Amino acid sequence: MNTSPLLQVRDLRVIFHTEDGDVTAVNDLNFDLHQGETLGIVGESGSGKSQTAFAMMGLLAKNGRTAGSVQFEGREILGLPEKELNRIRAEQIAMIFQDPMTSLNPYMKVGNQLAEVLMLHKGMGKSEAWAEALKMLDAVKIPEAQKRIGMYPHEFSGGMRQRVMIAMALLCRPKLLIADEPTTALDVTVQAQIMALLNELKRDFGTTIIMITHDLGVVAGICDKVLVMYAGRTMEYGSVNDIFYRPTHPYSLGLLGAMPRLDDETEELTTIPGNPPNLSRLPVGCPFQQRCQYVHDACREQAPPLQHFGDERQRACLWIPADGLPETTQHGAV
Ligand SMILES: Nc1ncnc2c1ncn2[C@@H]1O[C@H](COP(=O)(O)OP(=O)(O)O)[C@@H](O)[C@H]1O
Ligand SMILES: [Mg+2]
Repeated sequence: MNTSPLLQVRDLRVIFHTEDGDVTAVNDLNFDLHQGETLGIVGESGSGKSQTAFAMMGLLAKNGRTAGSVQFEGREILGLPEKELNRIRAEQIAMIFQDPMTSLNPYMKVGNQLAEVLMLHKGMGKSEAWAEALKMLDAVKIPEAQKRIGMYPHEFSGGMRQRVMIAMALLCRPKLLIADEPTTALDVTVQAQIMALLNELKRDFGTTIIMITHDLGVVAGICDKVLVMYAGRTMEYGSVNDIFYRPTHPYSLGLLGAMPRLDDETEELTTIPGNPPNLSRLPVGCPFQQRCQYVHDACREQAPPLQHFGDERQRACLWIPADGLPETTQHGAV
C-alpha cells in the first residue's frame, strides 16, 4: 500500500521501574497499520500486549515510561500532554477492555453514560445525544434497545455489556479501535457473536482495529496482520496467511499447536510446555530458549536480532524451517 499509514510504531519500548530494577515489558516493536486494516497482537499472558496498548494510549502505570515513536496520522502521540491525549482518546483512538464492568459506571443508566460522551466531545444536546446513543445500541445489536437504554449495567448479561462497551467505544467514530481481549471473559457462543459484530462494524465504519488476544482462533477470523509477542519482544510478524500457513518461529508453531481445530476432532491439543519467563530474571539470549524445541547453543549467547524479510515480515529467531525462509532480504525496511 502506498498511502501513508494511520499508525506507525517504531522501536516502541515500555520500561517499568521496580524494586528489582528496571523491567522492559515491551521491547522494540515496529509495525505500520493502514486505514481499514486489522492487526492482531498475540501471545500468552504477560507477553506485553496490554502494555503496548496502554503505552499508545498514554495509560501506563506511574512507574512506567516509554521510548521510541508512535505516530498517529503522522503526528507523534507518545508523551503528549494529558489534555491533548484526552481528546485523541475520545475522538480518534478508542479502547475496549476485557472486563466491561471496569469501564462502565455501575450507578449510571447506560443511556446516560453513552449520551454524556457525545455531549462532552461532540457538543450535542441531551435529546440528540440520547437518539444517537440509541442508534449505536441498535448498531451493536442490543435487542429492544429502546427499553434497555434506560437500564443499569448490572441488568445486562456479560455479552450485552461487552456490546455496550463496543457501542461506547464507537460513539465518536474513532479511526482506531484497540480491543484488549474483548471476548476472553465470555462463553464461546457469545464470543463468536461479538467477533461477527466487530467484523460487521469494521466493514460498515471502516474502523482500523488492533485486536489483542492470547487466542489465535480470534485472530483468524478478523485480522489482516499478526504480531506474535513473547516476553515483550516481536517473535514474528506478518500477514495472517503467513503466520497461519508459513510460520517461521517455534513460538508461533507452539501457539498454532495449542489452537483447537474445528475440522479435526481427533487431533490432541498440544500446549507449549513450561511458562513465560519472569521479566526481571530473563535468561541471556532468546527469551523463548527454555521452551523451544529447536534451541541450540547460539540461542543462549545472545537474543536473536529482529530480521526484516520478504514483504513486510519480521522475525527474531536463529532456527531456519526445513523449507527455508520465504524471500529473505535480511535488512529490508519495515
Ligand atoms: N506497573 C507495572 N510495574 C512493573 N511491571 C509491570 C507493570 N505492569 C505490567 N508489568 C509487567 O509487564 C508484563 C506484561 O504485561 P501485559 O502487557 O499486561 O501482558 P499481557 O500480554 O498479558 O497483556 C507483566 O507480566 C509484568 O511483568
Ligand atoms: Mg493483557
